[in-house]
Amino acid sequence: MCGIFGAVAREGDVSGALLEGLRRLEYRGYDSAGLAVVTTRGDLEVRRAEGRLAALAARLRESSFGGSASVGIGHTRWATHGAPVERNAHPHRDCGGELVVVHNGIIENYLDLRRDLAARGHRFASETDTEVLAHLVEENLKAGAGGPADAGALARAVHVSLAGVRGAYALVVLSRSHPHTLVAARADVPLCLGLARDATYCASDVPAFLDRTREVIFLHNGEVAEITAGGYALRRLEGERVERAPTRIDWDAAAVERGGYPHFMLKEIHEQPDVLAAAAFDRLDEARGDVRFEDPLFDDDERWRKVSRIDLVACGSALHAGFVGRFYFERLARLPAQADFASEYRYRAPLPADGALFLAISQSGETADTLGAAREAARRGLPVAAIVNAVGSTLWREAHGVVGTHAGPEVGVAATKTFLAQLVALYLLAIRAGRARGALTVEQGRSRIHDLRALRAHLGALLEGQTRAAIARIAEREKDAKGFLFLGRGLQYPIALEGALKLKEISYLHAEGYPAGEMKHGPIALVEKALPVVALATSSPLLEKTFTNMQEVRARGGKLIAICSRGEAAASEVADEVLEVPAVPEDLAPLVNVIPLQLLAYEIARLRGCDIDMPRNLAKSVTVE
Ligand code: G6P
Repeated sequence: MCGIFGAVAREGDVSGALLEGLRRLEYRGYDSAGLAVVTTRGDLEVRRAEGRLAALAARLRESSFGGSASVGIGHTRWATHGAPVERNAHPHRDCGGELVVVHNGIIENYLDLRRDLAARGHRFASETDTEVLAHLVEENLKAGAGGPADAGALARAVHVSLAGVRGAYALVVLSRSHPHTLVAARADVPLCLGLARDATYCASDVPAFLDRTREVIFLHNGEVAEITAGGYALRRLEGERVERAPTRIDWDAAAVERGGYPHFMLKEIHEQPDVLAAAAFDRLDEARGDVRFEDPLFDDDERWRKVSRIDLVACGSALHAGFVGRFYFERLARLPAQADFASEYRYRAPLPADGALFLAISQSGETADTLGAAREAARRGLPVAAIVNAVGSTLWREAHGVVGTHAGPEVGVAATKTFLAQLVALYLLAIRAGRARGALTVEQGRSRIHDLRALRAHLGALLEGQTRAAIARIAEREKDAKGFLFLGRGLQYPIALEGALKLKEISYLHAEGYPAGEMKHGPIALVEKALPVVALATSSPLLEKTFTNMQEVRARGGKLIAICSRGEAAASEVADEVLEVPAVPEDLAPLVNVIPLQLLAYEIARLRGCDIDMPRNLAKSVTVE
C-alpha cells in the first residue's frame, strides 16, 4: 500500500540507494514510482514514471540527475486517489518547486483542504490527496520565521501543517532550502528509521535498508522525525521530545533477496520447513508436554482457565489460518472460538463476553482493518493478543501480548510461508491453552510436540519429491480452465479457501473454496469438464464423506484432482489425478496440504505469464480500510 523511502548521507550519492530501497518496497504497490533529490548544485530534481520501478530506472538512465545528491526521497505507489498515471505519481511538489512530499495513507479531509488552498491561490497538478500536504507545508514554511540557516524551520512547518490534517499517513518531506534534513511523520501507517554510521534512512518497512543497517527506530503514531545524516530527533505532534532506543533487527539481509529462485514466492514456499522450525522448535517443552512463549501473557495458566471464548480476527490468508485456529482451540483446549473478517468484526459491535480473548492474526501487523478491529476490541475491554510476523509493527506494539511467527521477511505478495507460520503459532497456542486448562495431559501434549518436530522432515520431503512434476503436468493441462473449485471438510475447508485465494491472486483465474458437504447446495451446478475440482482428501474421520462428495463430482462429468495421504488407495479410483502428500496426524494436515495448492497456483500463474510476486491490483500490506 505504497512504499516510501528516504536517505540522508554525510557524503556521496544516494540515488542508487533510493532505487535499491524502492525495489525492496515494490511489493507494497507498483502503479507508479518516483524519486526526488537535492543535488550538490542546490537543485531540487524529480523523476517519475508510470508503472513498475523498472520504468523509473529507465527514465533515470535517459535523464539522470544533474549532479550528485546526498539527500533524497522515493515512492512506489498503490493508487487510491487518482488514476495510476505519471501526474499522480509521487513525489508531489508545491507551487514554487521548493519542496516535495511522498506519502502512504489517505488524507480524509483533503477536499476541504484543497478547496481552501486553491482559494488562497495554490495550483494543483494532480488528483491525489497527497498534494495538499506539499502546499500546506509550502504555506507554513513561508509563514514561519527563519530561512535556510534555520535548521528546525522545515520540521516546524510540518508540525503546523499536520495540525489541520485528518487521516492516516506516513510521509516524508524534502526541501531545497534545507538540503541536509528530511522531515518524516506518522499517523496509523508504518514508518521506521534506519541508523547507519554514515547515513540515516526512513522507510515504510525494514527490508528497504536491511543491507545497510539493522538499527531501527519505529515511529509511533503522532510523531514527527527530523532526520539528518548523523541521526534524528523525534517529537510528538504536540511538540514534546521523545527518546527511544533503537531495536536491533536480526533478520538476515539475504532473506530479502531471491537467492537463485526465479520468484520470491517459490523461494518462500521452499523455506517452509525451516519456517516451521523457527516458529516452533525453541518454544517446545518436551518434559512438560507444553509450549513456552516469550510473552508472559500466554504463560499464565490461571488466565487461560478464565478465558471463555476466543475471537480470532484477520484478513485474507491470515483469516484462513484463523479458521484452522478455531478448530485447534476447540479440539485441543475445549475452548469456544469464532473467526471473523476484521472488516466485518470491527463494525458488527460483537457482543462482549466475560472472559473473551481477542486474537488478531497478521503478517504485516499493519493491516488497517485488523488494527481497527483490535482497537475496537480493546475499547470494549477485551484483552488483545496477536500473532504477528513483522517485529515492531503497530499491532505488535499495541497488542497486550504477542506471538511472533519468526518467518522472516515475506516479499511475494501472496502469503505462503507466513500462512504456515500462523498455523504453527495457533497450534502452539492451542496446546498451551489445552495444557493450562487441563484439556490435554502431559502425555498428549508431548505427543503433539513430537508430531510437530517430525513434520519438518515431511514438509522437506514433499518439496523435494515428485509432487512438483505432477503439479506442473496438471498446471499445463488446466492453465486455461474456466475456473477451479476447491473442496474440503473440517480442517481442510480453510485450506480449500486458501488454495482458491492463491490461485485467484496470482493467476487471475476464478476459483472458489467450498465445504465439500455444502457443494450440493449450489456449486455443483458449475461442475463440468472445463471446471477442475480439487478435493482435499487426506486421512481423517471425515474422509469417507469427502469421497462421497468426490463421487458426486465424478458422476456429473467433473474433472477431479485429489490431494491424498500417501498409501490412500481409494482416492486413485475416484480421482482423475492424485497428488500424494506425506501421511501426518489429521490436525497437522493443513500445514502439509496447503503446499501443493501453493505450488499449483504458482505453476499456473507462471504458465499464464502473470507477474507472480506482484499480482495486479494487490498490495502486500493493506494500510487503508
Ligand atoms: C493482503 C495480502 C494478503 C494478506 C492480507 C492480510 O490482502 O495480499 O496476502 O493475507 O493482506 O495481511 P496481513 O499482513 O494482515 O496478514
